[in-house]
Amino acid sequence: MSLPENPIDQLGRRLGVLRLSLTARCNFACPYCLPDSQEPPGLLSLGQRLAVVGAAVRLGLHSLRLTGGEPLLNPQLEALIAAVQPLRAEGLADIALTTNGSLLTAERARALRSAGLDRITISLDGTTAASVARMAGLPPGPRAEAALRNVLEALGHSVAAGFDPADGALKLNAVVQRGRNEDQILPLARLARQWGIELRLIEAMDVGTRNGWRLEDVVPASAMVQLIGNRFPLEPVGRSPGATAMRWRYVDGKGTIAVVASISTPFCGDCNRLRVTAEGIAYTCLFACQGTDLRPWLQPATDPQALREAIGTLWRGRSDRYSEERQGPHAGAKEMAYLGG
Ligand code: GTP
Ligand code: 5AD
Ligand code: SF4
Ligand code: SF4
Repeated sequence: MSLPENPIDQLGRRLGVLRLSLTARCNFACPYCLPDSQEPPGLLSLGQRLAVVGAAVRLGLHSLRLTGGEPLLNPQLEALIAAVQPLRAEGLADIALTTNGSLLTAERARALRSAGLDRITISLDGTTAASVARMAGLPPGPRAEAALRNVLEALGHSVAAGFDPADGALKLNAVVQRGRNEDQILPLARLARQWGIELRLIEAMDVGTRNGWRLEDVVPASAMVQLIGNRFPLEPVGRSPGATAMRWRYVDGKGTIAVVASISTPFCGDCNRLRVTAEGIAYTCLFACQGTDLRPWLQPATDPQALREAIGTLWRGRSDRYSEERQGPHAGAKEMAYLGG
């Protein structure tokens, strides 16, 4: 077996992670995200997605993250996870899922585990039904209460299915916005500590064109760390190469927290992520306006060699570092749920 070619981009960065979106739709409507209600036309088939992952693995990819929208809306999620398993022999080391958790039943958690999923990250922006309603764009009342209950139960289902938070196989993501859920930072930290789960507090990003992002609504990561550290003392762990999150350890030994500080401390310098949308358009940056349509190499039949070359060429040509440049809103920017976050 020949070693994979690992292309280097214009800024010396290597491909490491593929964020593969399985659907642009979501059953939540978080105001900082605002997903489309319709799928883009021409969704990729399972076989086409497998071909994309295979091509990326042969270019040195080590980590696959399945995203949406809400990826649990895709009934072929487990089948895709099972289908990529043979790629482990070629270097695929890690398969992860980012989900809002509301559809993660005990049965589904077990099915994901037995299909070969390594890690789950569940998003939850508050510990009360009122804050969940506000952050998930749900009407306050029974629907938000049920959503909160389902997500909390999903944590238990995930642990029971074998996603061990102590190994980093289960994490909790929370997007924080000033005046909306700042008051939930400490309650979320307490909740995560009880479970031994790493909570990752995320600075709300200026992604897309419709979320009405304002700098003054961003709670800086340093303030979030300080708030938690005042209650539960913390010491810095740092950010692993290529990672989004900066981590901190509780001094009392009760686990870790992390912050994703793409506004206050951008991490483009070692960005190793490629994104592919549900209909097969590849984007190198979350803030890119222009993607590369991979479908010419996927239909009518897949052409693995040409597909690999197309992705390799795209990667070699990239020089984007939007979060470091941050030149303000730009027309043509794509939405988070479409790009896969
Ligand atoms: P791990 O593999 O567990 O470290 O997960 P991750 O942080 O790479 O993925 P996750 O889906 O949990 O995303 C966490 C946050 O980071 C979300 O708000 C993402 O939108 C954001 N994010 C992920 N990749 C990038 C990126 O390349 N650039 C920026 N600016 N944000 C990103
Ligand atoms: N800023 C930061 N994070 C966001 N997410 C969705 N929209 C935004 C935004 N505007 C998060 C989700 C999920 C991950 C994929 O991205 O909450 O945790
Ligand atoms: Fe859905 Fe996640 Fe977007 Fe919220 S942030 S609307 S859960 S895709
Ligand atoms: Fe990578 Fe673009 Fe995110 Fe920077 S803003 S880390 S270049 S995806």
